[in-house]
Amino acid sequence: MSTLQKQRLAWAITGSGHYLRECLDVLQALKNQNLTSVDVFLSRAAAEIIKQYGFQTQLEAAAHRVFQDKTASSVPVEFFYKGQYHTLVIAPATSNTVAKMAYGFSDSLVTNLYAQAGKTRVPSIVFACDTVPALGVSFIESEAPRENIVKVFPRQIDLDNVAKLSQFELTQVASSIDELQKTLNQRLNEPSFK
Ligand SMILES: Cc1cc2nc3c(=O)[nH]c(=O)nc-3n(C[C@H](O)[C@H](O)[C@H](O)COP(=O)(O)O)c2cc1C
Repeated sequence: MSTLQKQRLAWAITGSGHYLRECLDVLQALKNQNLTSVDVFLSRAAAEIIKQYGFQTQLEAAAHRVFQDKTASSVPVEFFYKGQYHTLVIAPATSNTVAKMAYGFSDSLVTNLYAQAGKTRVPSIVFACDTVPALGVSFIESEAPRENIVKVFPRQIDLDNVAKLSQFELTQVASSIDELQKTLNQRLNEPSFK
């Protein structure tokens, strides 16, 4: 068994309703296919939003372990110091978390995971959910609680922060669920995993 096969995938969820359902589906598929063990980390907002959308059962079914943001120093990041993870996925990533990461903040569990992943040279895949799907499209259709659909127009600052983050070392930014899936598959199919 290679070193990467022995390690786990760290998956952080932030307080985004947009693409939350789809991200949980990707997590469930990973578990069903038994490709890698996954630990899930929730921002404080994510813990609330998952309950608001009624996705608690799906989360528990899809994750192996779930950690919440309950400490000032983000205690769970020590797993990165112990080399437990091969990859960090942050999906869906709110505009808030993307902005903080793009400017080097690490003042919450998720932003700390991203910072510590970078400092321990673990690659990150970030699915920035508030991006426009294609050139010339200015809005996205986002799922609100109770399956209401709302139009969301990402602001220029949100798009600029995504672009800034995509320049960071060891960071791949996905701007659609298909791109997230593709990037994740590529990572899990790297020869070093065999
Ligand atoms: C129902 C609901 C849905 C939300 N959906 C989004 C979203 O799709 N994208 C986003 O950037 N923020 C969204 N938010 C706002 C974030 O939860 C809020 O900015 C929070 O502070 C983010 O914290 P975090 O980045 O630490 O998870 C939503 C809030 C609520 C109450």
